[in-house]
Amino acid sequence: MMLMMMVTRSLQLFVSLVCSLTIITIECAKVTQSPNIYNVTKTIVHSAVSKGAVCLDGSPPAYYFVPGFGEGVGNWIVQLSGGAWCKNVTDCQDRSNTDKGSSKHMGPIPFQGIHSKNQTANPDFYNWNKVIIAYCDGGSFTGDVEYVDPATNLHFRGARIFTTVMDELLAKGLKNAKNESAKTLPKSCTSKMKPELCLFAENIQQDIKTPIFILMSAFDNVETQYTLEGSNIYECIDHGTCTTSQNNTLKEMRSDFLNALPKGTNPKHRGVFIDVVHHHTSIIRRWTPEIAIVVHNVSAPKAFADWYFDRNYTYLIDERDLPLPNLIPNVTYSS
Ligand SMILES: *[C@@H]1O[C@H](CO)[C@@H](O)[C@H](O)[C@H]1NC(C)=O
Ligand SMILES: *[C@@H]1O[C@H](CO)[C@@H](O)[C@H](O)[C@H]1NC(C)=O
Ligand SMILES: *[C@@H]1O[C@H](CO)[C@@H](O)[C@H](O)[C@H]1NC(C)=O
Ligand SMILES: *[C@@H]1O[C@H](CO)[C@@H](O)[C@H](O)[C@H]1NC(C)=O
Ligand SMILES: *[C@@H]1O[C@H](CO)[C@@H](O)[C@H](O)[C@H]1NC(C)=O
Ligand SMILES: *[C@@H]1O[C@H](CO)[C@@H](O)[C@H](O)[C@H]1NC(C)=O
Ligand SMILES: *[C@@H]1O[C@H](CO)[C@@H](O)[C@H](O)[C@H]1NC(C)=O
Ligand SMILES: *[C@@H]1O[C@H](CO)[C@@H](O)[C@H](O)[C@H]1NC(C)=O
Repeated sequence: MMLMMMVTRSLQLFVSLVCSLTIITIECAKVTQSPNIYNVTKTIVHSAVSKGAVCLDGSPPAYYFVPGFGEGVGNWIVQLSGGAWCKNVTDCQDRSNTDKGSSKHMGPIPFQGIHSKNQTANPDFYNWNKVIIAYCDGGSFTGDVEYVDPATNLHFRGARIFTTVMDELLAKGLKNAKNESAKTLPKSCTSKMKPELCLFAENIQQDIKTPIFILMSAFDNVETQYTLEGSNIYECIDHGTCTTSQNNTLKEMRSDFLNALPKGTNPKHRGVFIDVVHHHTSIIRRWTPEIAIVVHNVSAPKAFADWYFDRNYTYLIDERDLPLPNLIPNVTYSS
């Protein structure tokens, strides 16, 4: 399992579980078809419509699938894509006209990083079955509201999408996924706080029995962009022009984030890899060796794979308290 958290003062997160669930932002990048980065077209789940498991606009849900090969045929990475939430009717209506609210608008997406099929670049997962479940419900796969307002035709059915798509994947060969935990928000959390707070990793992780690996920057650039909106911190980091006051804000954000992490008492249960580079979603964009993020001389892919395959349960946190700019070396994968 892998969980990418984005946690700060308001403590937000994205969850990403390999073999069970994942929430990750996918952004389009310049792509050429190669084992390291290749486009995949959607598979629409037509049968979901009769179960009411539909996107915001009522269209059927979809996923992106690449079959495993060789010794990887029995192994699966299932990722739930991310993309924040819509917050009110107008916002959700706008979203329903995009690929984040309707399968009608979903084009091919690039698979890369942990989805690379290149054995050198991705030695532990290159031959696994790979699935990205498209995110089109506006509420991180949690809604299960029967009522549809005819005035808006908005559907809030994310939990049904999750269940229905997982059923289809199970039928396709996904046999070992643990699928009991993510259908709805756990009562053990909602009984303690407002349900919306149970969308945040630091509040739900203690209710998740499945082992989780937390892989995130202490200076995630979605946090600096949105949580610290208006501070110009997103810009100053990459330009190396942050003031003392901006740096103090960053230190405070990091400290809040580290406090929200599970403690390292059982790293097999909760693995941790926290770097200080100003980036987001490194399992997709910074996974292959040339560009992987490193903490204490261990790269994120190695730390995760060592943990996942029971080779080493290192709990890694880069202790530097200010960010490094996100300088990605120019890597071209031509053939
Ligand atoms: C992959 O898809 C993107 C847009 O979805 C497109 O711009 C690009 O040309 C495609 N690449 C290949 C190699 O098909
Ligand atoms: C709806 O949410 C959007 C995005 O957060 C915001 O810009 C807009 O003002 C909100 N509209 C209403 C009516 O609350
Ligand atoms: C495979 O990955 C390695 C290491 O990242 C890279 O050097 C090589 O060019 C890649 N091969 C292909 C065919 O993409
Ligand atoms: C997984 O989901 C399927 C279908 O919803 C259900 O039949 C099965 O019992 C679930 N497995 C677990 C371990 O909860
Ligand atoms: C703020 O921190 C950065 C490192 O992230 C450093 O380069 C810069 O000098 C610091 N700013 C001040 C005013 O000390
Ligand atoms: C990291 O590795 C490099 C060479 O691979 C070595 O020179 C350096 O001492 C190592 N640093 C630590 C902290 O182990
Ligand atoms: C486990 O990781 C730690 C720190 O990264 C390292 O010092 C140790 O050598 C590793 N052990 C093995 C067996 O790889
Ligand atoms: C990548 O290439 C561009 C020009 O092609 C250059 O401006 C940039 O500095 C390069 N980045 C790095 C990190 O080398």
